[in-house]
Amino acid sequence: MDTDRLTTDRVQSTFVEYFEERGHQRITGSTLLPPSDDSVLFTTSGMHPLTPFLEGRPHPLGNRLVNVQRCLRTTDLDEVGDPTHLTVFEMLGSWSLGDYEGPQSLRWGYELLTEGFGVDPRHMHATVFGGDDRTGPDTASSDVWEELGVPVEPTTEDNWWDNGPTGPCGPDSEIFLWTGDIPPRSTPTQDDRWVEVWNHVTMRYRRLDDGSLVPLPQRNVDTGMGLERLVSLVQGKQSVFECDVFAPWRQLVPGLWQLDVPSLRLVCDHLRSAVVVIGDGVRPANTGRGYVLRRLVRRLLTVLWRDDPTRYLGDLPGELILHTLDHFRQDTDPVVVRGILLEEEQRFRRLLERGRRILSRPRFQGPLGEEDLFYLHDTHGLPRELVLSLRPE
Ligand code: ALA
Repeated sequence: MDTDRLTTDRVQSTFVEYFEERGHQRITGSTLLPPSDDSVLFTTSGMHPLTPFLEGRPHPLGNRLVNVQRCLRTTDLDEVGDPTHLTVFEMLGSWSLGDYEGPQSLRWGYELLTEGFGVDPRHMHATVFGGDDRTGPDTASSDVWEELGVPVEPTTEDNWWDNGPTGPCGPDSEIFLWTGDIPPRSTPTQDDRWVEVWNHVTMRYRRLDDGSLVPLPQRNVDTGMGLERLVSLVQGKQSVFECDVFAPWRQLVPGLWQLDVPSLRLVCDHLRSAVVVIGDGVRPANTGRGYVLRRLVRRLLTVLWRDDPTRYLGDLPGELILHTLDHFRQDTDPVVVRGILLEEEQRFRRLLERGRRILSRPRFQGPLGEEDLFYLHDTHGLPRELVLSLRPE
């Protein structure tokens, strides 16, 4: 198979068509912002907008669904810069709302990866839920993998999926692909050259406030696969940043700012994520979603200014903003996005200058204690993180 032809668009349409041919209706992926009554700040998984339907409400399009949903995960923020993590990414998802069960989903997953995307079955490994004191081992999934000849490893904590402390959850089976250059060896929990690509959750419980599990009115399947990660793996690339959606970033950013590889990845990831978040209507703030946006911008500026404090977001080529908004089908004016980024940059620059001035006072010359950090925040509006970055003790 000519893997270069497996572009992001092609992979996405192959995925959607595969499930459409098997009776799934395509639903439109929504914005990063969950409904206002939702407790999470951002959509973190394709299932998220579907929660009421996983809990039993009939979906107007039926009980087999497929979509592509943009997601944002701050839990992975410290991993960004490595080859596989992004802050904003797209998730390919398929669902059975009380229709077929997990084994069917795994069989289709195997078929699509091997026949649709040319994955060598010898480079696949699966994990399954090994059971705990509340729920038995997922033997139905292990049986499928054994029958297909895919090695399988049971785990407990890594194979239980939920979207928060309460709500729908269940055991999952994850598919890993080998990224090493020698014949695969070891297992996913022991060798991180096995990269997780597709998670199939048998979502059949609801966790209540007291932590107990009750069965959902129906047994669902919820699957999710990171699009950029899949594309980079099937194209044999070394990282998600080498897949085609990052091509303009790879072309334009290194000429603008010379950065080591992890820093370059972080800057591209955070800038692209900030554009998408702004495109979905979020504005920088000191709380909630706006604070996530503020942190993304500050983190990337901290990296940019480490070597050269004169670097300026105003130099960012407009086509990168436009390319990102187009890719995510957002109609926000790129000039507005740029304006917000520049305003935020200026605010951070001023805050840093003030922080340095205040920290140069004799009172702050020694090691800073908790009381100092509190005072600096309370009286001078200098966040703890910022003070520590200016004065690493
Ligand atoms: N909801 C599952 C996940 O995000 C499929 O991994």
